[in-house]
Amino acid sequence: MSPFILNTWYVAACDDEVGEEALFARRLLDQPVLLYRTGHGEPVAMLDRCPHRFAYLSKGRRIGDEVECLYHGLRFGPDGLCTRSPYQKTPPARARVRSFPVVERHRLIWIWMGDPERADPALIPDHSHLDDESLRPLVWHVAFDGNWQLGNDNLMELTHLFWLHTSTIGGWKPDAGATPGETYHARVEEGRVHSRTFVPNITRPPVFDNGVPAGQPFDQWNDTEWVAPANMTFTMGAVPVGAPAVTNRPYMVQSHCITPETATRSHYFSGLARIFQRDGGPEVDARLIAFFKGIFEREDGPIMADVQEQMGDADLFDLDPLILPRDAGAILARRMVAQRLAEEAGAEAKEKGIAGIGEVQV
Ligand code: FES
Ligand SMILES: [Fe+2]
Repeated sequence: MSPFILNTWYVAACDDEVGEEALFARRLLDQPVLLYRTGHGEPVAMLDRCPHRFAYLSKGRRIGDEVECLYHGLRFGPDGLCTRSPYQKTPPARARVRSFPVVERHRLIWIWMGDPERADPALIPDHSHLDDESLRPLVWHVAFDGNWQLGNDNLMELTHLFWLHTSTIGGWKPDAGATPGETYHARVEEGRVHSRTFVPNITRPPVFDNGVPAGQPFDQWNDTEWVAPANMTFTMGAVPVGAPAVTNRPYMVQSHCITPETATRSHYFSGLARIFQRDGGPEVDARLIAFFKGIFEREDGPIMADVQEQMGDADLFDLDPLILPRDAGAILARRMVAQRLAEEAGAEAKEKGIAGIGEVQV
């Protein structure tokens, strides 16, 4: 069974990673992919492998909207068809490269690597907060050594903020034990996992201006929405202690999208729309990106690499992991992924670990 869901949209790149001139190479779902933009700025994606002797096309030359292989000079158009062979009047019919449907949306370039007939742009998850210029949206990319589902596990279980990230973004917790009054609830609705965490009476994180005056305790909520295979939105809000939650006025909305590079290495695309530090220009933006990237590279990345090493290529449920109450969202996501993978493989869903979507036993 493929370790990847194929018939779905994945983020291939942030919009600013693929420029007008250069050829951009990235491994996605264990396949080499070439990305570039046509003269009109339209993104193009195709297999980064010449059908002749398998050279990387990304090491070739841009000729207008086409790509010329560096090895023996076959030339391919944005649709992957060979437009010119130096050796024949008409290029052979078999001289074609697989091209992939791509859509640029919400500051991200999305790719469909499954059956192209099913590539419906309406299925792209909504990250429209990244289109709201008043929230000065940012996007960035990092990679980590771990299976893509470890990214889901990591982001769907945020108590790790208080342990792994104590010196960076998690340092505001007053006590390393349970916070009195903290609530957490996860559920499946319309094919998505929703979870809400409510933490009353805490003080401001050192990094964020959440709209409550500094020094004043506040109640914080975080709504997480997950949609397969690995798209998450965090909506975070805060109000002075005891005030009614203003759920339509978050101080920060984050996007988290994971795309497999291989079975044991993954791309992590992140987006941030915020009400704080919006007027500092590109310098502040760059500092924020470096801050978040640094946290991931120094704190999350290494521990996921350790987890990957410990798990090898085993399925999480086959290792009989201990399940804690706050794992509910991550477990629901795992079950839905397992079901999608099984459906794609044309197999019956395995009994173990994936039965009973909608409930988590701890
Ligand atoms: S390998 Fe590309 S033309 Fe020969
Ligand atoms: Fe983290």
